[in-house]
Amino acid sequence: MAKFGNSIIKGLEISEIITALNRAYADEWLAYYQYFIEAKVVKGIMKDAAIVELTQHAADELRHATMVADRIIQLGGTPLLSPKEWLINTNCGYEEPKEFDVVCILQDSIKGEQCAISIYSQLVDMTRDKDIVTYDIVSQILADEVEHEEDLQALHDDITEFIADLKKSLN
Ligand SMILES: [Fe+2]
Ligand SMILES: [Fe+2]
Repeated sequence: MAKFGNSIIKGLEISEIITALNRAYADEWLAYYQYFIEAKVVKGIMKDAAIVELTQHAADELRHATMVADRIIQLGGTPLLSPKEWLINTNCGYEEPKEFDVVCILQDSIKGEQCAISIYSQLVDMTRDKDIVTYDIVSQILADEVEHEEDLQALHDDITEFIADLKKSLN
């Protein structure tokens, strides 16, 4: 534990930060797996572009899990030790892919990113001016999640537009 490093945290209980970070940690692992499995099962038009995007997002969520786990340890906490705990502690839950169609998969993922954005935005508010190191980490992750939402939405819109054009040309 970074004893002196942690002594600069002001106006916030360290245990409270650890609990909030562990919830985000659970979210990151579930998001990682959701993207991993979506990239495997996705079907339909322009699915190759979706696979590239989903695989990149999976790698980003795993990187976020690493960033959050390292900070929990610096604070003297323990990252959740069992996958069982991910479902108990998650904020955003796990959206099991039910429809494998590319448009449905992208819609599920956009929902997940919007939840992540609201959670990291709460963490930014919680740590601002109080725990500058965590603040910096959650701000970086927040920027990634905003980019994720944008990438998925742009791809979703391209695909739905392409399908609409195709239907028009067939009529
Ligand atoms: Fe993430
Ligand atoms: Fe994300």
